[in-house]
Amino acid sequence: MKKSKAKRPSGSTIKPRNQQATEPKIAEVKTHLPRPRVAIAIMAAGKGTRLKSQIPKVLHEVGGKPLLEHVIRAAVHMASAADVYAIVGHEADRVRTAMKHTGINFILQSEQRGTGHALMVALEALSGYDHVIVLSGDAPLITAETINRLLDFHLAQHASMTLLSAELEDPTGYGRVLRKSALRKHGSSPEVRAIVEEKSATPAQKKIREINSGFYVFSVKDLYAHIGELSADNPHSEYYLTDMAGVLRGARKRVVAWKTENPSEVLGGNTRAELADIDHFLRMAKARQLMVNGVTIFYPATCVIDADIIVAADSVIEPYVQLLGTTRIGTGCRVRSYSIIRDCEIGDGVTIRPGCVMEDARIGAGAVIGPYSHLRPGSEIGEGAHVGNFVETKKIKLGKGSKANHLTYLGDAEIGAGVNVGAGTITCNYDGVHKNKTVIEDGVFVGSDSTLVAPVRVGKGAYIAAASCITEDVPDDALALGRARQVVKPEWVKQKRSERTNQT
Ligand code: UD1
Ligand code: CA
Repeated sequence: MKKSKAKRPSGSTIKPRNQQATEPKIAEVKTHLPRPRVAIAIMAAGKGTRLKSQIPKVLHEVGGKPLLEHVIRAAVHMASAADVYAIVGHEADRVRTAMKHTGINFILQSEQRGTGHALMVALEALSGYDHVIVLSGDAPLITAETINRLLDFHLAQHASMTLLSAELEDPTGYGRVLRKSALRKHGSSPEVRAIVEEKSATPAQKKIREINSGFYVFSVKDLYAHIGELSADNPHSEYYLTDMAGVLRGARKRVVAWKTENPSEVLGGNTRAELADIDHFLRMAKARQLMVNGVTIFYPATCVIDADIIVAADSVIEPYVQLLGTTRIGTGCRVRSYSIIRDCEIGDGVTIRPGCVMEDARIGAGAVIGPYSHLRPGSEIGEGAHVGNFVETKKIKLGKGSKANHLTYLGDAEIGAGVNVGAGTITCNYDGVHKNKTVIEDGVFVGSDSTLVAPVRVGKGAYIAAASCITEDVPDDALALGRARQVVKPEWVKQKRSERTNQT
C-alpha cells in the first residue's frame, strides 16, 4: 500500500451554516466545548463494473460534470478543500488529474477491496480529526445542507456512527437499515442494529424500504478502534463499511440513522440507466431554476443545459437546444431549435437561428447568427453583425454591423465595421505550414465567390469584384479585380453541332 500524500488536517474548518436545523440542536454544547475537527472522505476508488466502461465510474458525467465533481462541490461548500479527501484507486491518476482543480486531497487505495477497506486506507490521513463525514463519489445529488444536518444529528446524538437513510419506493440494490426497534408512533428510536446488503438480505429484509444512502459520519476514534474487526466473509469477499454498524453495536457503541425527506438526494449512478435518471433530474432542476429567473424554455425536457449556464431574463430557449460549459446569454435573446452552444458569451438581444454549432465564441448585442452557422473557437462577432447559413468562422473579429450571410469560410481574419462579405467568400488562411492573417478594413465590399489569399490586407472602403482571387494588398477605396477576362466565341456551338452532323 502506498503512503498517502494527503495533507495534515487544518483544524476546525466546518463553515458556519446559514440554515435552521430542525434536528436536535447542539448549540448549547458548542458554546463551551472546542469545535470538533471534521474531515470529509469521498469514496471514489471503485471501477464501476456495472457501467461496462473504460472510463472510471466517478468520471462519468451527469448534468455536464463528472459524478465526483458534484460530490466535491457539495463537500467544499461546507468544509475547506484542505479537509476534503477523495479516496481514489481504479485509474487513480486519471481521476486525480480530472479533479485537480478542486484543490482537495487524494488518498490512494491501490487495491479496491470494498468500502470498508477504502476507510482502512485513509487511517493515516484522518487520524488528526475527531469526526469524518463519508460520502460516495457516485451519488452526486447530495447537498451541503443535508450533509450539515447529518453532522449535527451525529454530534447531538453522541453517536459513533450515523448513517443517512432514505425511504425509497423501490429499494432494490441498496443496503437495508435494520433498526434496533421498530419505529414507534411517538418518539421513534434512531438506533440501528445493522445494515444488510441486498445480496445477503432475507426475503423479509428485502421488503424493508428504508435504505442506507452510503453517506455516514463516524467518530474517527471509534471507527479506527474497530475497523480491524470487519470481515470479508460475504458474496463479494469485500470489506463492507456498512458492516461497521453491526461491529460498533457489538462493541456497545451508539449507531444511529437520520432519515432524509429528500430521497432523490441519495440516488447513486451505478448503471447507465441510473446515470440517465440522475442526469434528467439535474437538467430539469437547472431548467426550473432558469425559468424561476425569468427565462422561457419551451419543452425543457428536450433541452440539455449544463449546471453553470447563465441566461438573463426574457430570453427564449426553443426545444432541442444544448447550452454547455460556461455559456452566458444576455437578456432578450432567442436561441432557436437544434443549436449546440458551448462556452460562449452572448450579448443582449441576439438571435441564434436553428442549427448553429458554436464554441468559445463571443457574440455582440443584437447580432443574428444562423441558420446553420459554425462558429469555432476565437470567433468574435460584433454588435448587430450577421453571420448566415453555412458560414464557418474561426479566430476572427467581425466588426459592428458587418455581414457574412452565405456559404463562407472566415479564418484568422480581422474584419472591420460595416463590411459586406459576399456569398462564397473564402479566406485562404493556411499555406500548408502556417496560418496567415487576412485584414479587411471598415466599409469594404467583398464580391461573391472571392478568395482572399492570406497574408493580405484590404484597405478601408475598397471594393473586391466578384470571383476575384486576391493575392496582393488592396489600397483604401480601390477596386480590385482578380479574375480572367471573359471570352465569347460567337456561333461556336452551332458550328460544332453541324460538324458532328456531317460526320454521321
Ligand atoms: C453501497 C453500500 C449500500 C448502499 C449504497 C448506496 C456498501 C457495501 N454498500 O453500495 O449499502 O445502499 O452504497 O449507494 O458500502 N469504493 C471505493 N473503494 C472500494 C469499493 C468502492 O472507493 O474498494 C467507492 C465506489 O467508487 C463508490 C462507493 O465507494 O463511489 C460505493 O461503492 P459501490 O460499489 O457503488 O457500492 P454500492 O453497491 O452502491
Ligand atoms: Ca453505488
